[in-house]
Amino acid sequence: MQKTILAVLGLLLCVACGNTVTRAERKLIGSQRDSVMRVLKVTDREDSLLLRKTSREVSPEMLSSEPLSILCSRMLTTVTAPENDGVGIAAPQVGLLYNLIAVQRFDKPQEPFEFYANPKITFRSEECSVGREGCLSVPDRYGMVSRSDSIVLEYVDPTTLQTRTESVVGFTAVIFQHETDHLAGVLYTDKY
Ligand code: NI
Repeated sequence: MQKTILAVLGLLLCVACGNTVTRAERKLIGSQRDSVMRVLKVTDREDSLLLRKTSREVSPEMLSSEPLSILCSRMLTTVTAPENDGVGIAAPQVGLLYNLIAVQRFDKPQEPFEFYANPKITFRSEECSVGREGCLSVPDRYGMVSRSDSIVLEYVDPTTLQTRTESVVGFTAVIFQHETDHLAGVLYTDKY
């Protein structure tokens, strides 16, 4: 009987964890909005194992929480830091297994970085192009990767919490394909 109660409690705790920011995650996110986070690298064994994991969905409650707001600020600071100078970043690259990415929108005026929660590519064109890719988690390497020229992306806007669908083409579509791969534990180096 006691065992059953413990099992039920354990299960409830598990479900709760999936839907909220855990204590360990809060600690990693911290409170300094404008400070650069450590980017996990494939050259480190522990990092490399984490980069291969599948990330989890972020709930509306999580998205409207303070830690997620801080995480977005820190991811932006990190991807734009001179030592990184990236065009996109995924939460697992800073150690948080959340379905959350930032992409530089080269297809918009001023080329802003924007955040996407639970992004899913629902269409990939058969027409592909090969382009040079690098990754903040794969130091000192570049590779030629074939990606679809156009995609349709479904995602939750972290600010409005609304689900949106958008068609993206060209280099920006390549970044979306690269970043969403990270959420499935896939790196561009798997693709050639
Ligand atoms: Ni990458």
